[in-house]
Amino acid sequence: MHADLDRTLLTGDQIASRVVEIGRTLSADLERQIARDGGEADASSIVIIPIMTGAMIFTADLIRQMPLKLSLRVVAVSSYPGQSTQSKGAKLAGEIPSDLAGKHVVIVDDILDSGQTLGLVREVVAGRGPASVRIAVLLRKPGQRRVREVHADYIGFEIPDEFVVGYGLDYDGYYRNLPQIATLKPEVAAGTSGGLSTGAERSEPGA
Ligand code: IMP
Ligand code: MG
Repeated sequence: MHADLDRTLLTGDQIASRVVEIGRTLSADLERQIARDGGEADASSIVIIPIMTGAMIFTADLIRQMPLKLSLRVVAVSSYPGQSTQSKGAKLAGEIPSDLAGKHVVIVDDILDSGQTLGLVREVVAGRGPASVRIAVLLRKPGQRRVREVHADYIGFEIPDEFVVGYGLDYDGYYRNLPQIATLKPEVAAGTSGGLSTGAERSEPGA
């Protein structure tokens, strides 16, 4: 169907059942913590922070598995400009909400790779004085390229060190709408089919 795709790593059904499990565990953990805090913080103190744009689909499915009162505050981080499959470092593209004091924050991202994106967001969120911070990622790659050690509390799937697209993840802005997670053909991922972009970074966040 798509000339750039190699093989399906995770089907839409596999993703959907795992998202249900994560939603249940995460909700139970939040409820338990809020009860333990003795009602000081109520359920309305839960803030979900998806990192745009990659976490969009995962977050949309995840929060619909969370029967809790919660609010959503998106943040944007730029890390993969253009036709790049290598992280070029993480840069905030906008503000992290400033009113997180006393909140139970859940940072959501599509994938943990070098750790730069989540490391940066976690650091800024932690500086806002939240009651707790959790990290949920759909995918985690092996640590080879980990520049920053980041602990993810909820991980959907551990995947091999290959560039993947679909279910929110993009290559040059495309394929986020695929219901499955698929690998790119090696020549596309290596940039030999059309060449990696060398300059001309996109101005919109590519994460
Ligand atoms: P990190 O900062 O290197 O951990 O990268 C995290 C961000 O890079 C994620 O939010 C993704 O947007 C992007 N990313 C990392 N690996 C992939 C991949 O295999 N496919 C698509 N995007 C990726
Ligand atoms: Mg992302």
